[in-house]
Amino acid sequence: MGRGVLLALLSGAALNANAYNMSVYDVKPDIDWNEIPVIEKTMFFPGLITYDWINSPAHKGTERADFDTKTCTSCHSGEERGLGEQLIKHDRLDKMAGKAGSIDVDFQFANDDEHLYVKATWETQMPYPARIHDTLLFENGKWTIIGGDRGKNPYTPIYEDRFSIMIDDGSVDEFAQQGCWMSCHRGMRDIGQATMRDVQALEVIGMDGLNQKDIRKYLPDTRTERYGESWDKVKTREEIDQLKQDGKFVDLMQWRSTRSAPTGSADDGYVLEYRLNDAGKTVFTWNFDKKTGLPKFMYDKSVTGFYALNPEDLTDLSKNIALIEGVNTMPYDASKIEEGQMLQGRLNRAAEGSAGANNEIHSEWNDGKYTVIFKRKLDTGFPEDDKIMEVGGTYDFNIAIHDGQTTTRYHYVTFPFTVGIGDDAKGDVVSQTLK
Ligand code: HEC
Repeated sequence: MGRGVLLALLSGAALNANAYNMSVYDVKPDIDWNEIPVIEKTMFFPGLITYDWINSPAHKGTERADFDTKTCTSCHSGEERGLGEQLIKHDRLDKMAGKAGSIDVDFQFANDDEHLYVKATWETQMPYPARIHDTLLFENGKWTIIGGDRGKNPYTPIYEDRFSIMIDDGSVDEFAQQGCWMSCHRGMRDIGQATMRDVQALEVIGMDGLNQKDIRKYLPDTRTERYGESWDKVKTREEIDQLKQDGKFVDLMQWRSTRSAPTGSADDGYVLEYRLNDAGKTVFTWNFDKKTGLPKFMYDKSVTGFYALNPEDLTDLSKNIALIEGVNTMPYDASKIEEGQMLQGRLNRAAEGSAGANNEIHSEWNDGKYTVIFKRKLDTGFPEDDKIMEVGGTYDFNIAIHDGQTTTRYHYVTFPFTVGIGDDAKGDVVSQTLK
């Protein structure tokens, strides 16, 4: 791997309390970002706006005869802040008091012959980086899972932040125009959520198929009806497999501040009939055995200096509190744990195969700002569930940020935009070729 230096762990993490490497590895690419233009984007809260709403008469844009050929920005350029303010006002966000309607993000795009680099910096709404997700708490002699995003747990959220990139190469009809809204539908979690019973009863998605209990992102091509409430109108397995073979899925990669950043990675998935993981071993798993009710691993004290976490450790940036299989773990040993102590409920690990394709993602938290440098191979070698890019090509992008420990639709999004790879390519954004 050539990067097995446990920099942060061995040096006691970042000793400057204002700067914190989100990874325990040093994977920062050697790029002079001063040479690369900064593109400022305002990313906005999309409220309850779904694909079916966008394409319904309620959306005035559809009155235009050429609506189908227009991108969001051809009508809404520069309106991000205004839309965010409007949508947040009309949403029931009493549990997220003070949530901003939009955030400003500085982007930079660069490439070499083999990689695209997307650098993003934004001010977070929390006073510290989100380093815990589902957390195990030892209380009254037993382990319980605590945590939840700000929607569930407004005053003491325990949840990761995320930076997500969706990419298409022109294969998915309409994605260039409507971007990530194509994956957002009524029936999903937090938008008129379908019941577990109804989801379980679905072919392909339910008990006899993917065995899912809720609806997550999907593309309209996977449903027998394109518009209206379509979550339950799923095509057959055969039809969906054919769509996948034809490349009619979108790539979705998520940097997760807790569940992927510690290993310098982002998870790698795609959206088709559901939000799915790429093939291979994923970047995180549970650190909890549901049968025994016990954690699988705790910290290896000889590496970290502790077996488990105390409440004050959660915000102590002199301690790296990520739990990484085979790096700072040892099997759970009840005799080493004290009342009130905690362990990460999720386990970071080295991913493999297509699911492990994004393994050089640098991220840091610095004085209230996150910076993520997303390094993506143009050709990952996994065309069956990744979008393959090349220098000179133009691709459709949509980016989302979950900030302030939120989940599902409580994120900020860009409108879809095109990225040209390399100085000579065309695009709303052109990545600068590194010399
Ligand atoms: C052909 C032009 C056109 C296109 C393309 C278009 N819109 Fe609109 N949109 C409008 C008009 C007109 C309105 C109503 C006036 C306004 O609020 O600006 C509107 C309103 C909205 C609103 C306000 C909703 C509310 O509750 O008041 C949102 C959000 C929105 N559009 C999102 C989008 C998104 C996302 C896309 C791309 C997927 C998109 N629009 C594409 C023309 C368009």
